Amino acid sequence: MKAAGINCSPRVNCNTDQMVCSALKGCAEAGFETAHYNLYQNGRFTGCLSCFGCKRSPHEGECVVNDGMKEILEAVREADVVIFGTPNYLGDVSAGFRSLYERMQFSNLTYQKEQRWYNTYDKEILLVMSSNASEELIR
Ligand SMILES: Cc1cc2nc3c(=O)[nH]c(=O)nc-3n(C[C@H](O)[C@H](O)[C@H](O)COP(=O)(O)O)c2cc1C
Repeated sequence: MKAAGINCSPRVNCNTDQMVCSALKGCAEAGFETAHYNLYQNGRFTGCLSCFGCKRSPHEGECVVNDGMKEILEAVREADVVIFGTPNYLGDVSAGFRSLYERMQFSNLTYQKEQRWYNTYDKEILLVMSSNASEELIR
C-alpha cells in the first residue's frame, strides 16, 4: 500500500509541510510505503490548459501536460492514500493546490452521461490547511 504526501506551499519544511510530513510518518508507522513531494520544488507547472488531451486515446483519464506536476499526478494516481497540504492564502487554497486540483479533476471527467469518470477506484484523501489567523480573529 502506498501513501503520497504533497506539500502545496512554496515553503519547504514550514507549517504546511510539517503537517504533511507528520501525516506521512503515521502512514509509514502503519506500514505504508511513503513518498513526499514539494509541488513548488518539482519544476515549473501550470493549471489545466484545456487542451482536452486527457479525453483522447490513448491518454483518456490522464493529464498529458509534461511539466513539473506530471510526476506528482502520477504519484497521486498510484497511491492508495493521498495527503494534500495547502496554506490558507486569502481565505482559500494556494494557487499551486488549485492548479493541481484542476488537472486532477478535469482529466478524470469523461464528458459522458453514462460514465462520468474515467477512474472509478477509491482512495483515502486527507486535505490539511495551515493558517495564521490570530485568536482574536477566529473567536
Ligand atoms: C499570500 C498569503 C495569503 C495569506 N492569507 C491568509 C489568510 O487569509 N488567512 C490566514 O489565516 N492566513 C493567511 N496567510 C498565512 C498563511 O496561511 C500561514 O502563515 C501558513 O501557515 C503558511 O504556510 P507555510 O508555512 O507552509 O508556508 C497568508 C499568507 C500568504 C503568504
